[in-house]
Amino acid sequence: MNRREFSKKLMAAVVSYALFDSLFASNAFSKSVEPISKHWALKLNEYCSDLRKNSITPLEWQNQIEGLYNNIELSEILKFIDFELLIKGFEFPDFGVNTRRIKFPKLEGLPERTVFVKKIFGMKKDRAIIPHGHSNMSSAHLIVKGEMHLRHYEKIRQEENNLIIKPTVDKMINLGESSSISDEKDNVHWFIANSDSAFTFDVIMLDLNNKHYDIHNLDIYEKQDLSDGTLRVPILDIETALKKYGKETHH
Ligand SMILES: [Fe+2]
Repeated sequence: MNRREFSKKLMAAVVSYALFDSLFASNAFSKSVEPISKHWALKLNEYCSDLRKNSITPLEWQNQIEGLYNNIELSEILKFIDFELLIKGFEFPDFGVNTRRIKFPKLEGLPERTVFVKKIFGMKKDRAIIPHGHSNMSSAHLIVKGEMHLRHYEKIRQEENNLIIKPTVDKMINLGESSSISDEKDNVHWFIANSDSAFTFDVIMLDLNNKHYDIHNLDIYEKQDLSDGTLRVPILDIETALKKYGKETHH
C-alpha cells in the first residue's frame, strides 16, 4: 500500500468512526439496540438505593435524578403515579401545603417498599413550601402541575439558633422542571405557588449516613447580610414559620 492509499483508508476509518460516534451521541440506535430500556421508576429506585448505601454521593444522586426527569415524558410519570386520582378531592390548606403519599403500581424489580418516601405536595396560589434547610436528607422535586417561584440557598454553617446561608437559585419553575437538595448542594429551598394551584412530585431520602434527619425552618425576611455573599437567618419553630411564610400576603 502506498502512502496515498494508506491515508485514504485511514480517512475512511476516521469518517466511519465519527459517523458511528455521532449516531451514538444522538441516540439514533436507542430504539433498535435498546428496546427494553429500564423503567424510570427502577432507575429512580436504583439511584436511591445507591445513595442509601453511600455508593454515590448526594450530589451525584441529585444529578442522576434530575437527569432522569429531563429524559422522561412528564405524561409517563403522571400516569404511573396516577396523578389524577391523587388530586381528586385534594384539600388545599389556607397556609402552606398538603401532601399525599404515592403508591407505585406493581412493577417487576421494584420492591413494594421503596427506599425513598414519595409524595405529592399541593398548594393554592401564593401558598408556600416554607423556607427550610435540612440535615441528613436529600430530596428531588418535579413540578407536575402549575408554576412556582423557587429559591435555593447553600447551607454554609449553623450558629446556635441561626443558619448561615448563601443564595444560589431564584427563578420561576414550570411544569416538567425539577430541583433538588442535599447536604452537599442547594440545601435550603422555598417554593411559592404562582398559578391557581401547584403540585410537586417529591422523592425524599431520610436519615442518611445513619443519622436522624432534621429540618430547620428559616426566617429569611429577617436576614442579616454578612457582606461576604452570605446571610445570617434565624431558625423558627414550625408554627411561627407557617404563619409568616405559609401564605404570601404582600402584592
Ligand atoms: Fe425540604
